[in-house]
Amino acid sequence: MEVGGVLVVLLLGLILGLARSSPPPEPVACTRGTSNCTVTNVYGSFPDRTICRAANATFPRTEQELVAAVAAAAAAKRKVKAATKHSHSFPKLACPGGHEGTIVSTERLNRMVSTDTASGLMTVESGMVLKDLIQAAADAGLALPHSPYWYGITIGGLLATGAHGSSLWGKGSAVHEYVVGMRIVTPAPASEGFAVVRALRVGDTDFDAVKVSLGVLGVVSQVTLQLQPMFKRSVTFEKRDETDFPAQAAVWGNLHEFGDMAWLPWQGKVIYRTDDRVPVSTPGNGLNDYLGFRAKPMLELVIVRAFEERLQKDGTDIARCMAARLPSMLFDLEGYGFTNDGSFFTGFPVVGFQNRIQASGTCINSKVHGLSCTWDPRIHSPFFYNSGFSIAVSKAPAYIAEVQKLRDLNPHAFCSLDAKLGVLLRYVKASSAYLGKSEDSLDFDVTYYRSYTEGEPRSHADVIDEIEQLALKKYGAVPHWGKNRNFVFDGVITKYPKAGEFLKVKARYDPDGIFSSEWSDQVLGVRGRPVIVEKGCAIEGLCVCSDDSHCAPEKGLFCRPGQLFTEARVCSTRPAASGLRDEL
Ligand SMILES: *[C@@H]1O[C@H](CO)[C@@H](O)[C@H](O)[C@H]1NC(C)=O
Ligand SMILES: *[C@@H]1O[C@H](CO)[C@@H](O)[C@H](O)[C@H]1NC(C)=O
Repeated sequence: MEVGGVLVVLLLGLILGLARSSPPPEPVACTRGTSNCTVTNVYGSFPDRTICRAANATFPRTEQELVAAVAAAAAAKRKVKAATKHSHSFPKLACPGGHEGTIVSTERLNRMVSTDTASGLMTVESGMVLKDLIQAAADAGLALPHSPYWYGITIGGLLATGAHGSSLWGKGSAVHEYVVGMRIVTPAPASEGFAVVRALRVGDTDFDAVKVSLGVLGVVSQVTLQLQPMFKRSVTFEKRDETDFPAQAAVWGNLHEFGDMAWLPWQGKVIYRTDDRVPVSTPGNGLNDYLGFRAKPMLELVIVRAFEERLQKDGTDIARCMAARLPSMLFDLEGYGFTNDGSFFTGFPVVGFQNRIQASGTCINSKVHGLSCTWDPRIHSPFFYNSGFSIAVSKAPAYIAEVQKLRDLNPHAFCSLDAKLGVLLRYVKASSAYLGKSEDSLDFDVTYYRSYTEGEPRSHADVIDEIEQLALKKYGAVPHWGKNRNFVFDGVITKYPKAGEFLKVKARYDPDGIFSSEWSDQVLGVRGRPVIVEKGCAIEGLCVCSDDSHCAPEKGLFCRPGQLFTEARVCSTRPAASGLRDEL
């Protein structure tokens, strides 16, 4: 982009940005009251870039209103899906099937129901945002021992997608392991009023279906969590050389209760997070206000994006890699956004109460005009894909070693990962949940550039595609339900040994399939496949290429085997002969 183009984008950003206030936009929008609606996610775009339509939206405030909403849909045999306050899932989990469906938003179903400090039990409505849940627990002297690191999501939504933190200790890092009761509203026969509340407790046979349900069983009304007495943690980040990284990945999760790792593949460094429980008497009132989740000036976001686009378009590898160093340098300098006392960062370890350390996301409540979350869809802000997939801990070292080999073949191609603060590795324990992890796993999370223009190639996209396909095809990886691009979900249900049990519960709870959508049927292997095979589909991650037309031959991108994992099919600029040579 030339200087003029950048200026236009900046001015546009200013006009659009400063004119609006900052909390994220509503994911559900209707043109006529609560009819003729669309639902999107917080990024303003699903992986297939389609718009999701629904005939109506309802916003129940009580369980009774929720039952009435589900009953109305069931009586009319209309498709229905729950959506949440912000809708953070990348895939179309909140999209009702067809075009005449109903959206049941849990936005107003967000209250605390009960809390008991002595037993540690807390019951909340499903639309409660994690931030508020953590605060309400802390007010009662209680802590949710594990959670995702971003607190802008609701308890109902995060459970539906199996969201987690990082731990192999005790019950592990998945929030659903701490759920002991749930109330879920499902369809019912006319004789029962078309909808019923099912109250389930840990130990009930269906509980393992309901804990992680992708939203296809009904709408969760309430969740009861078993919390722990408040505790403190001590956190230290340390950047080290990657030489023993594969071996460390095998043990790090056993060494530290909340340990994780961030790999900067181009720089050959790993940021190890040493993070353990310490006695409450340990001095320190640390706070995690993670830099990446803070509200940023919209103008800055627009500039950053313009710069990224320019580097994509006519930047060299050297320029891209120079720029890629910056984020991790800045984050390092500022202690990643941690402070020792809530104001200043003076060095690690940062010691603080669990509720102040476990998660962050201050941009979600920003009231300041002209500031927003990095991914705000109302401005021309950074736009990205987020892939998350887990591999059995026992296989993770071999996978990492293979990705290192691929990196050694094309170090510059991996700069795009360094630019987004690397690959985040977090531990998740095996779960009895039918759609939870069946083995102790290491979750790999990567974020990378996405073009606003459909079908526009991204530099070195082939290596990202290759590491994803390597994980899925050779290492039995399973994708995070709430992240990823379409192709990743193809056939994934066969990797869940209890998927059949899940579908039996689904058939009992929702015999007419009103909570099923095209997407959920494809992902659960009920009907169709989640891949979309069309011109340019592999560029968008909608398919794995099998023909040059799935890439962008007119731009010099052809469907080729992976460089190291030759079973992979990626869009590459490599000439066919070299692809063949690599294969032999
Ligand atoms: C329904 O919404 C769409 C936008 O999503 C709009 O274009 C259309 O005019 C609306 N129809 C009516 C009848 O309001
Ligand atoms: C849902 O939308 C349809 C068509 O737009 C309308 O006829 C119906 O009354 C709406 N139902 C509710 C409960 O709002």
